Amino acid sequence: MNDQARILREQVIQARKNHPSTSKKEAKAIAVMSGKGGVGKSNFSLNFSLSLQKKGYKVLLFDMDIGMANIDILLGNTQRYTIIHMFESSISMDQIIQSGPEGLSYIAGGSGLKDIFHFNEQKRNHFLSQLQELAFNYDYIIFDMGAGITNDSLQMILSCNEIFLVTTCEPTAMTDAYSALKFIHNHDQGIPFQLIINRAINREHANKTAGRLQSVTKQFLKKELIHLGSVPDDKFVSMAVMEQTPFLIKYPSCLASRGIEGLTSRYLNERTSSATKNTHTFMTKLRRLFR
Ligand SMILES: Nc1ncnc2c1ncn2[C@@H]1O[C@H](COP(=O)(O)OP(=O)(O)OP(=O)(O)O)[C@@H](O)[C@H]1O
Ligand SMILES: [Mg+2]
Repeated sequence: MNDQARILREQVIQARKNHPSTSKKEAKAIAVMSGKGGVGKSNFSLNFSLSLQKKGYKVLLFDMDIGMANIDILLGNTQRYTIIHMFESSISMDQIIQSGPEGLSYIAGGSGLKDIFHFNEQKRNHFLSQLQELAFNYDYIIFDMGAGITNDSLQMILSCNEIFLVTTCEPTAMTDAYSALKFIHNHDQGIPFQLIINRAINREHANKTAGRLQSVTKQFLKKELIHLGSVPDDKFVSMAVMEQTPFLIKYPSCLASRGIEGLTSRYLNERTSSATKNTHTFMTKLRRLFR
């Protein structure tokens, strides 16, 4: 084992000592990703996180979109701290966590985020040990990833317990979603995927789109792709974006909000069947970064 791995292992043990009551309940980490950009990942991540919070779970939403971080914009906050402050000032991750509606915790992204994986050993250790601590404080950590996959985001995605793949019904978005799925599958065949069809015109269309992706995935990758649900195309989504308030808060009974609520309930009911098959914890997987 190299020195970095040893240091992180010691930090895991220390974090467990610091959180004895919650040591068995490390947060479930979910990466929200897509192939094509602009399909609705950030809006989904934010409103899904809020929906989980409303149902009593403790969620940390982490904006991992390196170029176009915008969770804070969707929330109408002028960002005080971003992940970049943590690196530049070596402050704790706790200090950069901000509060959103429903008691949601979130970390705003920043344009220098791409450097995380190129940072020196000390900074990388700092990032991982801070994340380690947080993993015991939340039920879910949701990473809003940028579109597509970069070498930098790949390890982060592979470390998550499951992946939410967001696509619209457009063939370009579907093709890119499949390419992204295939790319991840080539690195880890066991990681569970849940498919979310966003901006669906109606349920039939969404099911047809999901069915196509499911059958291609089964045929060529021998992989099961769970269709978690769909979020309807809804003008209230862009109205909420303009008003910088999440649609689940501003328009709780609009079609998109109801779609998110239904999807969240389904996820909570069915999560035992998918996520628990993946036995490694998030931090255990993240340790791969140190290999
Ligand atoms: N269900 C929906 N109904 C109607 N419009 C939607 C819906 N979801 C997203 N949109 C529109 O699509 C835009 C882009 O959404 P969002 O920023 O969440 O996408 P993204 O996948 O995070 O983009 P990027 O790849 O740039 O990070 C929103 O500003 C909104 O106008
Ligand atoms: Mg986004």
